Amino acid sequence: RKSAPMPQDIMARKGGTPLVSLTAYTTPMAEMMDGICDFVLVGDSVGMVLHGLPSTVGVTMEMMIMHGQAVRRGLTTSMLVIDMPFGSYEESREQAFRNAARLMAETGAGAVKLEGGRGIEKTIQFLVSHGIPVMAHIGLTPQSVNTLGGYKVQGRGKEAKALMKDAKAVADAGAFAVVLEKVPAVMADKITAQIAIPTIGIGASANCDGQILVVDDMLGLFTAFKAKFVKRFAMLGDDAREAIQAYADEVQARSFPAPEHTFAEDVPEKTK
Ligand code: KIV
Ligand code: NA
Repeated sequence: RKSAPMPQDIMARKGGTPLVSLTAYTTPMAEMMDGICDFVLVGDSVGMVLHGLPSTVGVTMEMMIMHGQAVRRGLTTSMLVIDMPFGSYEESREQAFRNAARLMAETGAGAVKLEGGRGIEKTIQFLVSHGIPVMAHIGLTPQSVNTLGGYKVQGRGKEAKALMKDAKAVADAGAFAVVLEKVPAVMADKITAQIAIPTIGIGASANCDGQILVVDDMLGLFTAFKAKFVKRFAMLGDDAREAIQAYADEVQARSFPAPEHTFAEDVPEKTK
């Protein structure tokens, strides 16, 4: 692929080859997934994964912009999507537009993602009609952890109808795709079948139109806890811990630095 996909290209993948996406927060990680992922999300999960916050509630616009800029520098052929942080869009359509426009202008993102279903329908409509592509996010919406009462599966039993309504609402409002987080697989399949925009699953179903995971989760770098829906495709955290211990041991044994890591006082050009 020569250039990054646009929201229309993502939409056109409905029912086709599954969309591949991951989160990224830094340039080197973005470079590794560039061209492999259809889109890369600068998720507000950055607050928990890289900043040690207890939830995504404390993530700021400034944090999103700084990480968005870093990720932007690492991408050439994947689309960049950026999360609107908690508190940056709920107040009014105008507040949402101002902050979405700032995120796009300062990071070069091609779209924003925000959390919510029917409650945020009008805001999605307003953003889209004013030039801002929106990815929706329903089911478990982590920014609402304090009112949801924890990170529970959403849309089970009596909640199923409400979840379907949320999916239809964000699709009708003009979102170009919707993340379904932590919902029963059968619900994810029903929603995927009944709405015209791609569903991006995380803790949803393999039949979604695409999948997303938090990159530090799937690489085994973030190990404070593991959600059931996370598959660790690598255990880089273990490698890192071992490397750090090996370094400490060698420093104390005075076996690091070895001669090849040190400089002679006076000599051959090439050893400089
Ligand atoms: O912030 C995030 O990482 C997300 C994805 C998990 C969808 O919103
Ligand atoms: Na998020």
